[in-house]
Amino acid sequence: MTTSPVKTSLTGIKPTAEPHLGNYLGAIRPALQLVERYRSFYFVADYHALTTVRDPSALRAHSWTVAATWLACGLDPSETVLFRQSDVPLVFELAWVLGCVAATGQLERGHAYKDALARGEAPNAGVFCYPLLMAADILLYDTNVVPIGADQKQHLELTRDLAARINHLYGDGVLVVPEIVTSDHPTVPGLDGHKMSKSRGNTIPLFASAKGLKKAVFRIKTGSEALEEPKSTDGSIVYELFRHVAPAEAPEMERKLAAGGYGWGHAKQDLVDALEAYLREKRRRYEALREDEDALERILAGGAEVASAIARATMSRVREATGIGLAR
Ligand code: TRP
Repeated sequence: MTTSPVKTSLTGIKPTAEPHLGNYLGAIRPALQLVERYRSFYFVADYHALTTVRDPSALRAHSWTVAATWLACGLDPSETVLFRQSDVPLVFELAWVLGCVAATGQLERGHAYKDALARGEAPNAGVFCYPLLMAADILLYDTNVVPIGADQKQHLELTRDLAARINHLYGDGVLVVPEIVTSDHPTVPGLDGHKMSKSRGNTIPLFASAKGLKKAVFRIKTGSEALEEPKSTDGSIVYELFRHVAPAEAPEMERKLAAGGYGWGHAKQDLVDALEAYLREKRRRYEALREDEDALERILAGGAEVASAIARATMSRVREATGIGLAR
């Protein structure tokens, strides 16, 4: 059991896609705000991505992308532990132990696995076992809280259940039973008004060039009122996005729209400018980090060292308790 009064929070990020504004506002920014309250661990869940990504160079590059994104967005590696899942392979040892107390029915009820079957796919065993690896990710580091979106809640319930079962079978304190912290993060609309997501192809890439930002923004659907007509912000995607990135200036845009003589094209240009101002510095940092893979690797290695020390302590408790290897 951790004796530290500061609770540990942990989150894994699957390296499967280029980050977009929805990821930033809905997940990255709120997660970084937790750093003040918790001892925070963030890791790149590259082995989870292996259930779907088949291109080795893409997987490797996406892992660096995730690390560079979080750093560019403000993660400070001297106070937050940033590491790559695969750099602490002890997680597989714990995943096996958890698998030995999990019921197959629990995995059969997994949303991702069930959805894949419902779509008529033949999911690989990695998809089936995904929740075990995720539970091991969490339990290996004595995690107290896992801030997650609602879609991950089932995984957390399984994690808690498995930790409790281990403690019931082998003694209290072998594993820390984590709390679920679901955060109602803002949902960011995409270019078509639906939730911004890679699969819908409606995203504003976080690190797009100024030109790329403009191209994306000018695809947004708007009303067709004439320039001089007054316009309402109700249901306006342009306004909603503007409000997210330039909240202080949103009332001014609302006023201009209501007054008439300010067209949707003007509003779009103002959104482009606001995005550019909001993202320019992050993009600069991201590009610098992305160009220096050795530096990124050093940061990840530093994180893995801290993470490994905790992992070894957990696994030695687990081995001792379960009768694996020599007694201490
Ligand atoms: N399953 C998570 C997702 O799809 C990623 C993840 C892997 C994770 N391991 C984790 C999240 C541990 C929180 C804790 O986004």
